[in-house]
Amino acid sequence: MLHAHEAGELITQLEGEPSLGVGPLLKTHTHDTGKILQESLQHESDALKAYEDLLNLVEGKSVMLEEYATRLISDETRHAGEVRKMLLPPND
Ligand SMILES: [Fe+2]
Repeated sequence: MLHAHEAGELITQLEGEPSLGVGPLLKTHTHDTGKILQESLQHESDALKAYEDLLNLVEGKSVMLEEYATRLISDETRHAGEVRKMLLPPND
């Protein structure tokens, strides 16, 4: 939610109008932790790709948006790594 709020702030700063729509939600309607984590990992990977695409668009054009995209790429990379660690089999 913090990322969505920050994106909205940037859009209004750039004189745009952020959508109030909600994107696709996670699909799992199960209590299977492995499936929930797999969907979470996919979500983190999709977000990472979107921020990489943004960085490619703004690189050399806007320091503010470059910094934003770079910071979010770092955040999403860390999030994906955390989920990957949770998916590892337990060490005995
Ligand atoms: Fe994330």
